[in-house]
Amino acid sequence: MKTAIRGQILSFQGNPFTEPLEDCLYYEEDGLLIMENGHILEVGSAVKMLATLAPDIPIDVYQDALICPGFIDCHVHYPQTEIIGAYGAQLIDWLNKYTFVAEQKFSDKIHASQAAEIFLKETLRAGTTTASVFCTVDPTSVDAFFEKSEKLNMRNIAGKVLMDRNAPDGLLDTPQTGYDQTKDLIAKWHGKGRSLYSVTPRFAPTSSPEQMEMTGAVWQEHPGTYLQSHISENIGEIAWVADLYPDRSSYVDVYSHYNQLGPRAIYGHGVHFKEDDFRVFSETGTALAHCPTSNLFLGSGLFSIETAMTGPNKVRTGLATDLGGGTNFSQLVSMNEAYKIAQLAGYALSAHHAFYLATRGAAAALYLEDKIGTIAKGYEADITVLDLKATPIIDYRLEYAQSLEEILFVLMIMGDDRATRATYVSGKRVYFNDRDTGKEHF
Ligand code: GUN
Ligand code: ZN
Repeated sequence: MKTAIRGQILSFQGNPFTEPLEDCLYYEEDGLLIMENGHILEVGSAVKMLATLAPDIPIDVYQDALICPGFIDCHVHYPQTEIIGAYGAQLIDWLNKYTFVAEQKFSDKIHASQAAEIFLKETLRAGTTTASVFCTVDPTSVDAFFEKSEKLNMRNIAGKVLMDRNAPDGLLDTPQTGYDQTKDLIAKWHGKGRSLYSVTPRFAPTSSPEQMEMTGAVWQEHPGTYLQSHISENIGEIAWVADLYPDRSSYVDVYSHYNQLGPRAIYGHGVHFKEDDFRVFSETGTALAHCPTSNLFLGSGLFSIETAMTGPNKVRTGLATDLGGGTNFSQLVSMNEAYKIAQLAGYALSAHHAFYLATRGAAAALYLEDKIGTIAKGYEADITVLDLKATPIIDYRLEYAQSLEEILFVLMIMGDDRATRATYVSGKRVYFNDRDTGKEHF
C-alpha cells in the first residue's frame, strides 16, 4: 500500500564538504514523499504530484516542520544506557568503575531485552533510525538487541564485543569462543531482515594478540559484515596501547597489522589522530565516528572534523552519540557539541555540514549511502520529522530566523529529542509526538 508525507523536505544528495552546496542540497518547500514497501517511490513538489496522485493514498501532513532523512548514529553502546551521566572519571577509570559493572548484567536475557527496548525507544524518540551498536561480550545481549530491532524493522548494525583480557572475568571470552560465537551470530543475524552484523573487538587493550588475530580472520572470512572498535580516544589509553603492543609503530598500526582496516570498518573517536593516521584510514577506506558529547564528557579531547572532512587525507566520518560515554540520544545535541568543538579550533561547522554528518555522511561512513540517509527515489523510507515549534523558546527564536540555514542552525543548537515530531522506519510511522494532545505514540 502506498502512503505519503507532505511538508518541507530537506536532504543531501552529495557531500557539501567537497562539492558545492547547491549541488548537494535537496530542498522542497512544500514537498510530497510517496512510500511503498518500505521504500521511497517518489519525491517532489506536492502541488505537481497531487495533480496526478490517486485520491485514496493516505497523506500525513506536517506544518511547521522539516522532513529529513532519519538520523544515523555511527557508534553507540546500548548496554550503557543505564550508566549515562556517571560522574567523575576519564576513559579507563570510567570503564572499570561503571561500564564493566553494568555490562556484566547482560548475560541475563530479561535484563538485556528490557535495556534494548528502552534504548530503541529513546533512539526513535530522538529521530534516529539506524545505529551501529556495541552489545556486550555475551551473545545473549546480541540476541536481545536484534530481536527488538527486528520487530521494529530497523536497519541496525550490531555485534558481540570481543574481549579476553584486562577486564573482570565475567566479561572475558577467549580467542576461540569469541571467534566461534561471532561466526554463529553472523549466521543468525547478518542480513536477517534489515539487520547487519558488526565484528566488535572492544579496543586493542582488551584483546590479546591471539584474539586480535582471530578477530581479523573472522571479519575477513565474512565479506559484507562490519567491524567496529575504538581508537585514539584518550591520552592514557594511547600510552597503554604502546606498552601492550611494543612492536607496532602506532595505534592505527595495531589494527592494520591484524587486518582490521578497510571498507565497513568504523572506529570511534580518532581524537588524537596525526596526519599519518588520517592517511592510513583514507587510503584503506576505513571510517571514523565523531563522538562529540562523549569526548567532552570523558575529557578525551577535541576531534578535528575539519581535517577529517576537508584535509589532504579525507576520511569517511559520521556523527555518533557513543552513549553512555556520550550523554544524549539526540543527534541534534551531537551536532551542537560538534559545532563547539570545531569552534575551539577556529573552524565554523555550518548547519548544512552538521546535518550531512548525521544523515548522508553517516550513511557513507557505514557504506550505506545507496540505501539510507537520503530522501530520494529508491531509498529506504527511514524519515524524521523535526518540529519547528518544538519548545516555546525555539518557536520564538525561529520567528526571527531569516533563512533555511538559520532555521537549521537554531534547531541544531537549541534542539534535542523534543524536536522529533515523528519518526518513520521502513515507511511506517513508529513514533509520533502529537502536539494537539500532548501525547507520544510508539
Ligand atoms: N573504549 C573501549 N571501550 C569503550 C567504551 O565502552 N566507551 C568508550 N567511550 N570508549 C571505549
Ligand atoms: Zn564507544
